[in-house]
Amino acid sequence: MSNDIICLGKSTLDLIWPLESLPGKGGKFIARDFIQLGGGMAATAAVAVSRLGRKVAFYGRAGDDAAGHAMLDELAGYGVDVSQFRLFPNARSSVSGILVDKEGERAIANFRGADIPDEAHWLDLDDVAQTHAVLVDVRWKEGAVSICAKARAHGIPTILDGEIADLDIYDALLPLVDHAIFSLPGLRSYGGAVTNHLQILQKVREQGCKVAAVTMGAQGCLWIDDNGVQHQAAFGVNVVDTTGAGDVFHGAYAVALAEGKNTVEAMRFASGVAALKCTHYGGRAGIPDREEVDAFLAEQFC
Ligand SMILES: Nc1ncnc2c1ncn2[C@@H]1O[C@H](COP(=O)(O)OP(=O)(O)OP(=O)(O)O)[C@@H](O)[C@H]1O
Ligand SMILES: [Mg+2]
Repeated sequence: MSNDIICLGKSTLDLIWPLESLPGKGGKFIARDFIQLGGGMAATAAVAVSRLGRKVAFYGRAGDDAAGHAMLDELAGYGVDVSQFRLFPNARSSVSGILVDKEGERAIANFRGADIPDEAHWLDLDDVAQTHAVLVDVRWKEGAVSICAKARAHGIPTILDGEIADLDIYDALLPLVDHAIFSLPGLRSYGGAVTNHLQILQKVREQGCKVAAVTMGAQGCLWIDDNGVQHQAAFGVNVVDTTGAGDVFHGAYAVALAEGKNTVEAMRFASGVAALKCTHYGGRAGIPDREEVDAFLAEQFC
């Protein structure tokens, strides 16, 4: 059975040690806990899609090592189809070690992984024509270009999570993407010398994107489409942890598009899901299910 949505891109593993305070120098420190969590934009978006009740696959790559298997098992545990999450022998997965103090301040050491092949010829794209939306991030250019080209050929909507990346990735991807939704740092890096957000979004539209958007945390989401400049406010919630809010926003937006919602409806739905995520700890454990989202949105006036 085919999936409603395919998410392609980054998967990482975070190893987290909560401490009383961050070390100022070397030594041995007792952690209050130890937490191992999968991360990565497209991978966490896939978990959000699954939590919202849609069938989803994650297409990606990592090393055939302990971290790779941990990521794969976690995604599968969330109900994500991992048949095209490939673990490469002799390659090493991306892993972060994170020390976090009582105030939530973090010291992060990231290993980006090694010897993971860039080429995407092994991807089986036969299922793309049967899906209802494709979401990619900026961390695997070759894979994203292949799947977006195939989706475009079949009229399947494509969504991009625009985080900070080299310009050549945007030059390759934007002409194949229908909905380019940047984070604020991602938009600024793409804009370069242009600092006005609306001007940068206009530049994104000129690459062929129907919707050019930027999420701005508690300031909500701003976008330009054929109807002009529009804004969705962030919902007021009791914020506990914003980790993964952007990833979850993108997954929820893909769900909305796959269900035939228009851009205004999709932005509102994604904002509601992301806001509810912020009321819980953790990028994935805090993702709400459909019932919670529907009940929450029914009570909102914006
Ligand atoms: N404090 C908040 N209160 C309510 N909603 C929030 C808050 N922070 C984020 N959101 C929601 O999540 C969306 C995405 O957040 P944000 O712009 O911070 O993503 P991001 O920069 O990509 O972060 P990341 O990728 O690290 O999750 C926002 O547009 C908003 O709808
Ligand atoms: Mg983001």
